[in-house]
Amino acid sequence: MTSLDGAKVVLGVTGGIAAYKAIEVSRRLVDAGAHVVPILTEGAEHFVGRTTFDALASEKVQTTLWDETSPIPHTTLGQTADLILVAPATARLLADYRMGRSDDLLTATLIATRAPVLIAPAMHTEMWEHPAVQDNLVVLRERGVHVVDPEPGRLAGGDIGFGRLASPASIVAHAERVLAADDLSGTHVVITAGGTREAIDPVRVISNRSTGKQGYALAESAWARGARVTLISTVDREAPIGVTVVPVESAADMHAAVMAVADADVIVMAAAVADFRPANPAGDKIKKTDGAVPEISLEKTHDFLVDLGQSKPAGQVLVGFAAETQNLLENARGKLKRKNLDLIVANDVSAPGAGFAHDTNKVTLVFGNSEEIDVPMGSKRVVADAIFDAVVRVRGTFP
Ligand code: CTP
Repeated sequence: MTSLDGAKVVLGVTGGIAAYKAIEVSRRLVDAGAHVVPILTEGAEHFVGRTTFDALASEKVQTTLWDETSPIPHTTLGQTADLILVAPATARLLADYRMGRSDDLLTATLIATRAPVLIAPAMHTEMWEHPAVQDNLVVLRERGVHVVDPEPGRLAGGDIGFGRLASPASIVAHAERVLAADDLSGTHVVITAGGTREAIDPVRVISNRSTGKQGYALAESAWARGARVTLISTVDREAPIGVTVVPVESAADMHAAVMAVADADVIVMAAAVADFRPANPAGDKIKKTDGAVPEISLEKTHDFLVDLGQSKPAGQVLVGFAAETQNLLENARGKLKRKNLDLIVANDVSAPGAGFAHDTNKVTLVFGNSEEIDVPMGSKRVVADAIFDAVVRVRGTFP
């Protein structure tokens, strides 16, 4: 469940070639639980049919100020919306909105609302770079309008350049961010994810069953709540929208990457860092024709969460994970104290539907003041949201 669940979103579609992508935006919003009311401008109807939106959105398309059933559709929509999202937004829409012009249903609704507004512009590079367009965007941003910038890529007519509509996934993630509590806004949140891989030789590794799903869900949650997010990951997955991913492989790589951002406001060590690694990794692939079965002797890795706990800057919230198969809470409480953490996420990785590789999880949050909260079985995203609720609470207790 995200901030889009149950939200009424007025989806304005204007007349650009990217209007077809608004169909996917509408579908994704509905999938996220939003109630979507589409408004198509006259221009948009040249590019997409209203039947498609009628079928996919939550209400029938509206197009006009002169609807006989509702004499004031713009104020009704403007007053009841939780969010107005315009995707794609043409140069004309930006100009009209900046000027406060209201000569069609969409522009009138934009003027008749106090709801947050998110616009996703799309146009040819020359138009996007025109000072008039950029000037309009500066003014709109100053007024608090949220903007998802276009991306570089293929444009109408085969040109390549900047101005392509942001991806539907990105637009929906931004919509979620606009509606979410921004209780991590202005903070830098560092999250580690995945199991580290420790080399035996150049082709073989020792690793663990972590897939990074909980870490990625944490990154999505923190970004939605307004944080700047660095995700230090061993996993080859698509980066969550808005998140900076630092790829790493071994515990030593992860250690170095975490130390480079150790001054962050929040650090969540969700990664399953190897406790042991081969002491003498071979420089070349070990061949079976070499003879004997190799014996791999192991050495301890450095537990850098201990270092982070010892040198924790004032105001930082440090969160560890305890992935356990027995004595869950006892082990978690011990780790919390030993590593000087503010919070530890006790995760019974042997429980059905919880832990490594599952899409769901079930944890107990153990706080530095000994308080404990059970987070029931839910998606890893719901668990991530509960972890950041706890992080925000801990931040609130700092002087
Ligand atoms: N961790 C770390 N560096 C390591 C090992 C673990 O930073 N070399 C972090 C993990 O990311 C996790 C926390 O420490 O957040 C707990 O890890 P875990 O291996 O469960 O704890 P240990 O103290 O090593 O306890 P044990 O292996 O005995 O269960």
